Amino acid sequence: MKTLIRDAQVVFPDGIRQSAILLEDGRIVSIDAPDSSRADEIIDATGLHLLPGVIDDQVHFREPGLTHKEDLLTATRACAKGGVTSFLEMPNTKPTTTSVAALHDKLALAASKCIVNYGFYIGATPGNLEELKCAKRTPGIKIFIGSSTGDLLVDDQQALERIFAETSLPICAHCEDESTVRANAAAIGGGQDYADHSRVRDNRAAIIATRRAVDLAERHRHRFHVLHVSTAEEVEFLRGTSNLITAEACPHHLFFSVDDYPRLGSLIQMNPSIKSLADTQAVWQGLLDGTLEVVATDHAPHTLEEKRQPYPKSPSGLPAVENSLALMLNQVALGRCTLSQVVSWMCEAPARVWSLKNKGAIRVGYDADLVLVDLKRSETIFNENQLTKSGWSPWHGTTLTGWPVRTLVHGTTVFQSGRVIDGPTGREIEYDRP
Ligand code: DOR
Repeated sequence: MKTLIRDAQVVFPDGIRQSAILLEDGRIVSIDAPDSSRADEIIDATGLHLLPGVIDDQVHFREPGLTHKEDLLTATRACAKGGVTSFLEMPNTKPTTTSVAALHDKLALAASKCIVNYGFYIGATPGNLEELKCAKRTPGIKIFIGSSTGDLLVDDQQALERIFAETSLPICAHCEDESTVRANAAAIGGGQDYADHSRVRDNRAAIIATRRAVDLAERHRHRFHVLHVSTAEEVEFLRGTSNLITAEACPHHLFFSVDDYPRLGSLIQMNPSIKSLADTQAVWQGLLDGTLEVVATDHAPHTLEEKRQPYPKSPSGLPAVENSLALMLNQVALGRCTLSQVVSWMCEAPARVWSLKNKGAIRVGYDADLVLVDLKRSETIFNENQLTKSGWSPWHGTTLTGWPVRTLVHGTTVFQSGRVIDGPTGREIEYDRP
């Protein structure tokens, strides 16, 4: 099957220019293909930009075990709509992905359900070192240095030292210091309202844990990725770290601050918590100056019924995969960043950080995971239109300019004219590691 995408403004790693891209059997086979190229399908992309598909390296898709919130089909339908062609999913499902057997079970489940490409982290526990050493079909190891949804906390220093010393896969971590969080909670009597969440999980909790994790990685010379940076202190600290360390920002830490609690309440209750306006500005600055390389969502759906419980019973997490690209394209429309920066943060950098084979750029030989976007299209996000099973968005009522209009996974169209085309089109992601 050959597909020719004609007259698109194509975002290449070295710039944006008009080109025609020829796809064959799921790969990009030619750039600047002649108009006379023979193809089974011709896509006229006049007026549109062609981007590599988004790679979201931090999502919680809830299957197995928590499928009343989300499952691999509903989540990947949302991905297709949002221009996300590959995802890396976290291990806090039920059962947890903390053994090679559980990892392989998840991969088998994904093969029959996922519309987009998939990879799954293996989670660390205080006692599963041998599993972490044997796992191969995974981007890396996830450590919760600080508890969040689920019970995957590894706080013991000796256990952490051994994970960093004895494993070879890259590691990423949720960094919020457990003893600081507990002391803060005790000091305010557990907390009364949603805004207290940011007092319990404060800036100190984040920077203490991030320093601790980076110290482990630097001493053991281990590749390490800091997930969801939320504070000015962390951004400042990360400016001085070695090239073993990479870091990322999430849309909720870029677009929400504690000032939004009165309007949104538990809808923006997240771990790490939402911080001050000054912190959001520092996280933006970290992205713009290259200190933070990746933008990923931390898509973490809970039902509205669960979210409406009073604090602290209300769970932390919000859904975002179907809006993340549009949220960032809207920033391009506002002049805050460039389209090439968005592609760097959401496509190129996650592929580089996790050594994803043949992904993250429009290059000959790379997978034909692509998204056509209309930078002029304005649309409003409504809960009723969301494809995530959780059925809501914290951006309900927000109008954004710049939207995905067609998504291709391995050359197959999975989203077009507002509709997702169901089918197990996703494939297991491969890793380019020694
Ligand atoms: O707010 C969060 N929710 N942060 C996490 O780290 C986990 C996530 C979830 O799985 O609900």
